[in-house]
Amino acid sequence: MQFQYWKRWVPGWQVCLIGILLVGLVLPGPVRAKHEKGHEEPSSICPQPRKTVTAPDEYLKLKNPLEATPQNILAGKTLFQIDAKPSACRICHGISGDGLGILFRQVQPKPRNFTCIHTMDDLPDGQLFWIIQNGSPGTAMPSFSYLADDQVWQLILYLRSFSEKK
Ligand code: HEC
Repeated sequence: MQFQYWKRWVPGWQVCLIGILLVGLVLPGPVRAKHEKGHEEPSSICPQPRKTVTAPDEYLKLKNPLEATPQNILAGKTLFQIDAKPSACRICHGISGDGLGILFRQVQPKPRNFTCIHTMDDLPDGQLFWIIQNGSPGTAMPSFSYLADDQVWQLILYLRSFSEKK
């Protein structure tokens, strides 16, 4: 009698198991997909989440010694869009500086969005200078240590032009 009681329940357990598998395997799919989609942070959001290391104090005090003349800005633009090695800044930071370069999807954290006034106004010239010379370790941001100081300052004049209030 006791034995038959358990036997009657065997199909019940199987149904139950299938139910658990369905809940465990099928349902989390759409839920996970939704989460991952929501998690992707477009660079062009503003302000951007930013965990970049802060430059040493002596750099933070630096002010750009160059004036924002059309010639200096053009020199920075040429480096940014075409000439910088190992790759032009545009590849990651985007033609219009919004962080949506062609490598945008491949890199995490995302390239800085220079059009975001909230982010850029908080970043001293010396911080930008230090990161361009040394890169940001653990991210895709390379070091451009071969550039002359003046070239870095010209780049910074151009970067600043992306977030100028128009
Ligand atoms: C291969 C991709 C890549 C290239 C090329 C690149 N960057 Fe970046 N850059 C990044 C990423 C990614 C970050 C974000 C780093 C981080 O979050 O610490 C970044 C951040 C920065 C920052 C922000 C520093 C800060 O303190 O927030 C500056 C300035 C910068 N890049 C300038 C440049 C300039 C100028 C060039 C070209 C000479 C350049 N980058 C080329 C990927 C790139």
